[in-house]
Parts: sequence; structure tokens; C-alpha cells
Amino acid sequence: MYVPERVVTNDELGALMDTSDEWIQQRTGIRERRYIEPGQMPADLAQAACEQALEAAGLEVDDLDFILLATLSSQHEFPGTSFFLHEQLNAGNIPCLDLRAQCSGFIYALNFADGLIQSGKSRRVMVVGCEVQSTGIDRTTEGRDVAVIFGDGAGAVILEANEDENDSAGILDITVHSEGKHARRLWIEAPSSGHIPCRLTQEMVEKKLHFPYMDGRYVFKHAVTRMPEVLKESLAAASIKIDDVDLFLFHQANLRINEFVAQKLEIDDDRTFSNIERFGNCSAASIPMLLAEAERNGKLKAGQIVTLTAFGSGFTWGSAVLRW
Ligand code: COA
Repeated sequence: MYVPERVVTNDELGALMDTSDEWIQQRTGIRERRYIEPGQMPADLAQAACEQALEAAGLEVDDLDFILLATLSSQHEFPGTSFFLHEQLNAGNIPCLDLRAQCSGFIYALNFADGLIQSGKSRRVMVVGCEVQSTGIDRTTEGRDVAVIFGDGAGAVILEANEDENDSAGILDITVHSEGKHARRLWIEAPSSGHIPCRLTQEMVEKKLHFPYMDGRYVFKHAVTRMPEVLKESLAAASIKIDDVDLFLFHQANLRINEFVAQKLEIDDDRTFSNIERFGNCSAASIPMLLAEAERNGKLKAGQIVTLTAFGSGFTWGSAVLRW
């Protein structure tokens, strides 16, 4: 994982908008987040995370045969972020693409990577989550509900075909869902390709349609329902009991959402792990960032059962069960 060095505290945001450290911590659990600095691009964050993943795996970029990058904050409208990452990694001509499933993006990307490997089309796939949200938020009181939540960061994992019958590590299940009728509850309306004659107008900017809109309570309500639901569905598909899970990792959108979900499923604190306090909501990057820190901190060890669960814009939601 990689996060930019610049730390932005709640008090720093409080100087720009009508909010407070107390409000943010009480409602979300967030104390600080990271923002990129001039000269840094999304692909730079992704590159740093990918280089660490390659080093940890003892692999070179030439050992990969696909790069899948999940993001909701692509470096450019097209071709996205993954192609700039590809250039920076000197990835020859292996395929890469951006995948958009917002905060559930990493779980969706894992699902595709799993499919590529199971079908035999790929042997080794790098799955990256990368977000730069700091440049896309309204840092005034009008945008405070979203602005205080989001942060910048990246995380990466490498999946490979495991044909060793004595090694049970791997993906046991991935279950994903979408419900497009809620798309406008958490979205960025502009630029829009359907807007004639131009995707982005001065009027749209004046109306702040290029900033995220979020119906916070509506999102909260759906997240606390869908996350336990899909987690149970995925565990059932993997024939794993909730008591047999060593670690539950939840997308870091709001600590209160995750506490609610954990309480609903009677999961005690020592079987969860969070880093939202330090990084805020890094959307598609949050789960690989959590995996990296959980492993580094000794929370996640080889052979353990870990679940990954997320909910996000679309609406999208999903859960994975892995043996680490
Ligand atoms: N600082 C201070 N006050 C704020 C604020 C901020 N950053 N953001 C909103 N408020 C105010 C509101 O304006 C409102 O004021 P009012 O009562 O005078 O109208 C009040 O706080 C309560 O707003 P509400 O939106 O009902 O708060 P909430 O308890 O629902 O908390 C969220 C807001 C955003 C923290 C919460 O709805 C949430 O976490 N939703 C889900 C977000 C999420 O997960 N998004 C990403 C999905 S991947």
C-alpha cells in the first residue's frame, strides 16, 4: 500500500468549512486523511503500491500477465489510470484496464481476476485499488458531508494460479451485487457524455455538479443492511461458518457503519481491523490498504480465513472469503 505523505487533520478541514474534529470523529471515526501534493498523480500512488507488492512476492513486472485497476477517480476521463501505471511500471504489452465499481471496486476486480485465472486465460494478475479524491471534493461548508470522509491512497495484491493440492490458500468465494436504481443517491453528475453540446459547462461548474453528491443517511441505511447480507451469502457459498472467520475486513467508509455491521453479526473487536482513523475513506483502495496493514501488523497470518466486504456507489456491494 502507499499513501501520500501529506497528512490533513480534521482541524485543517475545520479552517476551510463549518465542521469540527469532534463532529467528524463522532460520526465517522476519522481523525485524519492523506492528500496528494503538487506533481503527484494517481498512477504514482498505484505504482508505489504495485512495486511493494512485486517486491513482497519476489516477482518482476514481466511475471505478470494482467493488470486490473479499480478506481472511481481516474487520472483522466479516458484512458483512465491503469495505462499510466502500465507505462510507469514498464509493463511491456500485457493488458491492463480500469474497472469502475466505486467503493466495491476492489472486490469486483478480485472477482474478474479470479475468473481470468480459473479460466486459464491468465496465470498472474495484479489487482490494484487507487484513489485520488482530494482534488474532486468541495472544500466548502456546502460539500462538508463528503469532503470530510474521503482520502487518497492505493493498495495492490498479486493473484496467481495455485495448483499445489497441499496448499489451500486462495479465494474460497466472491459474491457481488448491484442495484442501479440507487445510482443518483451517490454520484457525480458532471461531466456527462449525455449533455449536449458539451459534457461540462460553466453552468454545471457553478451548480457544483462536478462534485460528489451523497444522500448520506440513505447510503448509511443501505450499507448496514447489504454488508451483513452479502457477507453471510458469501460465507454460505464458501461453506465457512461465521465463527470460523479469523478476520473480517470491511471497506473503510465510516467506522460507525462497520461497528453497526459487526454488532449485527456479533463479531467482537479483536476479529476486525480498521485504519479509517488515519486514512479516511479511500474507496477502491481501502481494502487492499487494510490487507497490507493487517499483514504487516501480524493481524493476518498465513492459513487464516479472512473476509472482505464493501458497499458503494452504484449501488454496488460484495464480499469475498479467502484463505490467506
Ligand atoms: N460537519 C459538521 N456538520 C455536518 C457535516 C460535517 N462534516 N456534514 C453534515 N453535517 C450536518 C448536516 O448539515 C446536518 O445539519 P442539520 O441537522 O442542521 O441539517 C447534520 O450534520 C446531520 O446531517 P446528516 O447527513 O443527517 O448526518 P449523519 O448523521 O447522517 O452523518 C454522514 C453524515 C455522511 C457521516 C453519514 O450519513 C454517513 O456516513 N453516510 C454514509 C456515507 C458513506 O458511507 N459514503 C460512502 C459510501 S461508500
